[in-house]
Amino acid sequence: MLDLFPASARIDGNELLIGGMRAVELAEKFGTPLVVYCEETIRSRAQALRGAIGNGRVVFGTKAFPNVALLRLLREQGIGADVASAGELAFARAAGFTGAELVVHGNNKDEAFLREAARDGATVVLDAPDEAGLAAAAGVARALVRVTLGVDADTHEAIRTGHHGSKFGLPTGQARALVHDALERGIDVLGLHVHVGSQLADFDAQAETIVRLAAFAASCRDELGWVARVADLGGGFGIRHHPDEHVPDAADLARSAAETARIAFAEAGLPEPELWLEPGRSLVGQAGVTLYRVGAVKRLPGRTWVAIDGGMSDNPRPQLYDARYTALSAARTAEPADETVSVAGMHCESGDVLIDDVALPSPRRGDLLAVPATGAYTLAMASNYNGVGRPAAVLVNNGEAKLIRRRETIDDLLCLES
Ligand SMILES: Cc1ncc(COP(=O)(O)O)c(C=O)c1O
Repeated sequence: MLDLFPASARIDGNELLIGGMRAVELAEKFGTPLVVYCEETIRSRAQALRGAIGNGRVVFGTKAFPNVALLRLLREQGIGADVASAGELAFARAAGFTGAELVVHGNNKDEAFLREAARDGATVVLDAPDEAGLAAAAGVARALVRVTLGVDADTHEAIRTGHHGSKFGLPTGQARALVHDALERGIDVLGLHVHVGSQLADFDAQAETIVRLAAFAASCRDELGWVARVADLGGGFGIRHHPDEHVPDAADLARSAAETARIAFAEAGLPEPELWLEPGRSLVGQAGVTLYRVGAVKRLPGRTWVAIDGGMSDNPRPQLYDARYTALSAARTAEPADETVSVAGMHCESGDVLIDDVALPSPRRGDLLAVPATGAYTLAMASNYNGVGRPAAVLVNNGEAKLIRRRETIDDLLCLES
């Protein structure tokens, strides 16, 4: 089970340590729920992905967790930032990202967002039939065009995006017309963008997408006389959230993507494009562990409920995507996991269940649970349901913990009221 945790996770006696810090001490000092990020894991993931694609570019899917300290850390590793709103752009700017480091997304960008993107000299991914006109008017100089190539990825339907009829991107005919329109308006169209889905279980959908992308790029050359210099393959590499899940290593997938693109573009008679990737989850997902304090324990006929001090407000993925998690009793690691229980959140919904069944040392009030692989799309999707403040996050390394996002207070919530 420790292999689901960050690289620096260790068991010492009866206790879990991350980044050289005892989970118990982190929980006492910063409170719970607490998302603990391991700096070492983020650095090594960033280096592995960059190394895998050589001259290409890796940009972080900021939506996975927009946080200034984390973005700064990734920027130090030579990673760019993909942002999908003016808010995410502001986080990236605060971390120092500018110009070519920024890729701007969105299936419905407004004029203000496009103007902000243009001000930074970002590359804008055009994603609507009339967006070239809006982008040119906003002063956008560089763009990609997002195309959907009709590939159904093997992932939850809510995070599948490359299929026919998707709300993202445009089918080939409309995408080619958009390339033409953008060129006519003087925008430098660097290349094409695809994103087939998230938490992909294998490479099949991406491989098929790359082959179709090369064929589409060839049709653009033939019909428009325009040659794509960049192939942005989006994000999507999965991670393991649960011991039963098997997901290929992201760096291996990135190497396969680079190789597949090289061959597919060569076979289409096109020059090798510069490869861009936009990993979110595979950069920060496994780096994050959420610590929760156990409260009420109810032993009912057929089921034992273990209630934690968070739930769907800090991690809505079980409700959104049927995501499965596991947990470790962080201060009782040496004790036998002799009771199978369900871990429930504290919210007013019966569906607020974080883990359906997990074996733990017979749980009691005050235990500390550590839930691994919770660094992506958890805090980023957190809400204030039931008037709960969103959790704090810390970055740990070599026995030190830095607060990278403070806990929201009830006063924070009240100050929005008029
Ligand atoms: C356009 C785009 N790029 C990158 C990502 C990041 O994906 P992942 O976290 O699966 O790597 C997403 C996720 O939805 C996306 O829509």
